[in-house]
Amino acid sequence: MITPQSIEQIKNRIDIIDVVGEYVKLKKRGANYLGLCPFHNEKTPSFTVSPAKELYKCFGCGKSGNTITFLMEHEKLSYVESLKWLAARYSIEIEETESTPEQKQLQQSADSLYIINNFAAKFFEEKLFESEEGQAVALSYLKERVFRESIIKKFQLGYNPSAKDELAKALVQNQFNKELLPKTGLVVIRNETDLADNYRNRIIFPIHNNTGKIIGFGARVIGKADKAPKYINTPENEIYVKSKVLYGSYFARLAIDKADECLLVEGYTDVVSLHQAGIENVVASGGTSLTVDQIRIIKKYTDNLTIIYDGDAAGVKAALRGLDMALEEGLNVRLVLIPDKEDPDSYVNKLGAQAFQDFIAANKKDFILFQLEVMMKESGNDVTKKSVVVNQVAETLSKINKAEDFSKQQEYIKQCAVLLKIDEGGLTNLVNKYKRDKISKEEKKLPFEEADHIRLQNQQADSSADNLLLLNQDEAHERNVLRVLLEYGLKNWDAERTVAQYIFDEMEQFHFDSQPLEHLFNEYRSWYEKGLEPTAKSFLYHEDEHIRNLVVSITMFPFELSQKWDEVLEGMNIVNRDVSQQDVLMSVSYFKLRKIKKMFEENQRDMEFAPIEQQMKLIAVHNQLKEIERELTKQLGTVILR
Ligand code: UTP
Ligand code: MN
Repeated sequence: MITPQSIEQIKNRIDIIDVVGEYVKLKKRGANYLGLCPFHNEKTPSFTVSPAKELYKCFGCGKSGNTITFLMEHEKLSYVESLKWLAARYSIEIEETESTPEQKQLQQSADSLYIINNFAAKFFEEKLFESEEGQAVALSYLKERVFRESIIKKFQLGYNPSAKDELAKALVQNQFNKELLPKTGLVVIRNETDLADNYRNRIIFPIHNNTGKIIGFGARVIGKADKAPKYINTPENEIYVKSKVLYGSYFARLAIDKADECLLVEGYTDVVSLHQAGIENVVASGGTSLTVDQIRIIKKYTDNLTIIYDGDAAGVKAALRGLDMALEEGLNVRLVLIPDKEDPDSYVNKLGAQAFQDFIAANKKDFILFQLEVMMKESGNDVTKKSVVVNQVAETLSKINKAEDFSKQQEYIKQCAVLLKIDEGGLTNLVNKYKRDKISKEEKKLPFEEADHIRLQNQQADSSADNLLLLNQDEAHERNVLRVLLEYGLKNWDAERTVAQYIFDEMEQFHFDSQPLEHLFNEYRSWYEKGLEPTAKSFLYHEDEHIRNLVVSITMFPFELSQKWDEVLEGMNIVNRDVSQQDVLMSVSYFKLRKIKKMFEENQRDMEFAPIEQQMKLIAVHNQLKEIERELTKQLGTVILR
């Protein structure tokens, strides 16, 4: 983990204009900067960056955040990757907290694997272009397949010579860790100690991760594969996890973003050939069905996936297996089948770039409807088989379950009902049944607390303005306390205390009903007590994404309650006087009032059912609460009147 000190250092150096300006052309407008939003298409700029607040907001699409979230969203980096990106940019040396020896080892071995791979890729490239053998055997083969030099170089293709251990020798000579080498799959151990090349006499396709680092290789035999397997791939290791790899994603990511569509093919050569033809938004799955992790990589860039597979049954079956998952992740899936005996590589070379593109455009089929057609053909007129099909379609459609995809689902139900010649209402009911089944299954799986947490989060997400206006909204009041804490916490409350200390004192007997808010409160307190001077801004760099999001939603989007506050405060017409005191006082008092009211209600319920001997005690509590309530109301009254 990166140390708080390093995070602090990075934070202090961040210049949001500099970082965002790298990707967006910004013009100064008063205190802010304005540009065309990189997150949606627009002709007039509505993307605003505030250097003072260190925030950006697009008034067109509503995206907002800080430098880190910008890197996370735009460059698809993780939180830690963003920090490292910034550290590299500002030449800040990152300190990481003591990791366990196992973690350290893992990190070191991962780093070494990258270094070894990088060395090997250079070695292979040089052999392909510079060695006589490489030129004669490999380069000539690639050229026969009409790969041009520029594309070969772009994808860093290479050649592993046919001698027993040319690469192995070079690796050992360069003093790479001998223990680690077999992990890379580049070499194998022979006769217990000797290292031999594993990809002898093969064309090498380096596999890059999303940031362009080489994580592994695919090694293809030259010419026809009769005896040996056609490809040998890197075994799984710390950096190569097959289920998370999409070949070509590094070279395709910008084009996918731009086209808002990702083409999926099976093979390495398909990707390279399509690139050569100018079709760059393409990745390969390696011939197996898509995994959730692969779908998520695609989903980072686009919602539209077009699968281009050979028409043979095996390919289609493999593709179909990933469909439900793709739907669940909210992808729109389309399918193009390439005519028999061809694959995208051979077909684009046969037709030429333009005709190939036209073919794709003309033959794109909606995947759900395609699947239905296939199943209906198989079931023929058999009634029981047809009912299986209906159920399967309903189950598939129930996987489209994101709220924003609702109309998409409706449209599918309509179309499928027509194709199946069944009643639309009936199909809708069946789809809903599958949805319900799934939800109840999942709820059973969730531990109670987690379900509660999710419920609360949902509540937070849709707490609309008018909800928040009502005084009996617990959550609004809880958020409001955190808002003033984040906003004014470090200011002075009185001669002895800061606002934060005042709030801590006042909150002593109370707690938050919302778990996330309670968590944020405790985090604030622990930072404060460590002398870290927490603010809304510094919390935007918190490691926990939930906390960051919560802080943004509490501080960036002033909810109605606090706007109302502002009005009241403004109405007080206080000139040259700090309104933060009133704001804090009101926020804390209303929060407490709300809690007292609840305790009051509970107490009254208890009174109804309590045996007579307990009544006296409860009445005492009742009176006590009444008293506190009166005090609070009085206090609030004076605030407003004062
Ligand atoms: P293909 O057999 O379609 O190969 O396998 P290809 O990529 O089109 O290669 P060319 O055009 O014949 O040279 C598709 C993908 O399946 C994986 C590879 O990722 C390959 O690109 N595969 C195939 C293997 O991993 N091992 C194999 O032995 C074969
Ligand atoms: Mn092929």
